Amino acid sequence: MPSTAATHPAPASSATSKADQAAAFAKGLEGVIGGQTGVCSIEQDKLIYRGFEIHDLAAHATFEEVAFLLLEGHKPDSRELERFKAEVIAERALHPAVTTFIESAGGWLASGRAVPMDIVRTAVSILGHTDPDAQDNSAAANLRKAKRLLAKIPTIIGHMQNVIDGRALIGRELGGDPSLGHAANLLYMMTGRRPTTAEARTMDVSLILYAEHEFNASTFTCRVISGTLSDMHSAIAGGVGALKGPLHGGANEAAMDMLKEILASVGPDGIGTPKVDAWMEQAFTSKRKLMGFGHRVYKNGDHRAGILHALGRKMAATLPGTFGGIPASKWFDLGEQVQKIMLTKKNIHPNVDFPCGMTYFIMGIPVPQYTPIFVAARITGWCAHVMEQHADNRLIRPLSIYTGPAEKKWNG
Ligand SMILES: CC(C)(COP(=O)(O)OP(=O)(O)OC[C@H]1O[C@@H](n2cnc3c(N)ncnc32)[C@H](O)[C@@H]1OP(=O)(O)O)[C@@H](O)C(=O)NCCC(=O)NCCS
Repeated sequence: MPSTAATHPAPASSATSKADQAAAFAKGLEGVIGGQTGVCSIEQDKLIYRGFEIHDLAAHATFEEVAFLLLEGHKPDSRELERFKAEVIAERALHPAVTTFIESAGGWLASGRAVPMDIVRTAVSILGHTDPDAQDNSAAANLRKAKRLLAKIPTIIGHMQNVIDGRALIGRELGGDPSLGHAANLLYMMTGRRPTTAEARTMDVSLILYAEHEFNASTFTCRVISGTLSDMHSAIAGGVGALKGPLHGGANEAAMDMLKEILASVGPDGIGTPKVDAWMEQAFTSKRKLMGFGHRVYKNGDHRAGILHALGRKMAATLPGTFGGIPASKWFDLGEQVQKIMLTKKNIHPNVDFPCGMTYFIMGIPVPQYTPIFVAARITGWCAHVMEQHADNRLIRPLSIYTGPAEKKWNG
């Protein structure tokens, strides 16, 4: 548990005693306030983006509106929104240097030496070399870079999936179809198929839910990097690296892999039976972390999870055929059974990554692209935080408690 001393505003100085430092220590910075932000607020009963609550945004806003809100700082009027959408659409295509890199990455992806998140990380770095504002940290340049990153990350994901599938790059010249919105175009570039309205809206809402989440690990990484007055692309490349881990963004892929593992173990007829309880018991006994459950901040449940679960459930009911061997709704039956057992036995709620796994799966999205899609959303929050850090900077440099050997003489 965090010590109450961890929230004291006065920073530990070199004059602070070892006892005071030890009292202020909280492993994993749990409960420590790492800074101030006007971008987002997480409370046990609310998630707010710049004053707007997440249920309200998911029900009434589009991802483009939320991206504007986060990056430009206020709700757009219709003229501002049209201008913003046009700016982003105009920036969708990739510089040939980035396209060439993605085309060359097929072997690494096929061999497993690289996963899609690694390709996104490297592509973001190369984007930096191709950006005319690369070394300019001014507010205006940062906003231009943020819009370019927002526009280009779906193109990176789409082109990468085309390379994996061995097909010609879709939308090479324009970064997709300019008549499609951000979420629909992302799906189109991955598959070559224009999504249905329901598919596009489900993706749109998932991007809204993933767009921002205060001082999570990847956003904090971006803030630490930009706090050295390093540039936006360096910060975002670091953010991608942090998001990849299964304790953070990688959990949406890991959650779906876990559900597939349960299905393989209990069989389609085992869903809804005690076989699932037995699988879970074994996981508890081996102290296995179940992916898509738990949260460092939310202790009574993640507000985003219910929104995405309901949307995915609704879509599943409309989809004919089977997905990974069972009908779409059966994945939600299994997911709900797992959720119920976790809550009853461990009092642990699902986080947004749990319904995301099932929802993206029944939309036919390849599992290794789930976390890159998270990047396509969180790029807005990361860039907003980089801009906020640069606008009112102080180097982020905490202290540590030394646990190494006692001092000794080199020649003694
Ligand atoms: C997100 C996460 C890292 C938060 O961790 P945390 O705040 O450090 O919480 P802890 O790991 O200290 O967990 C507290 C207790 O709950 C248990 N717990 C937490 N999440 C769990 C999970 N997903 N599965 C099983 N047990 C879990 C821990 O084992 C621990 O039990 P203990 O006190 O008996 O040792 C953690 O819940 C987790 O690893 N979840 C799975 C990964 C995931 O879904 N990440 C996405 C987050 S949005």
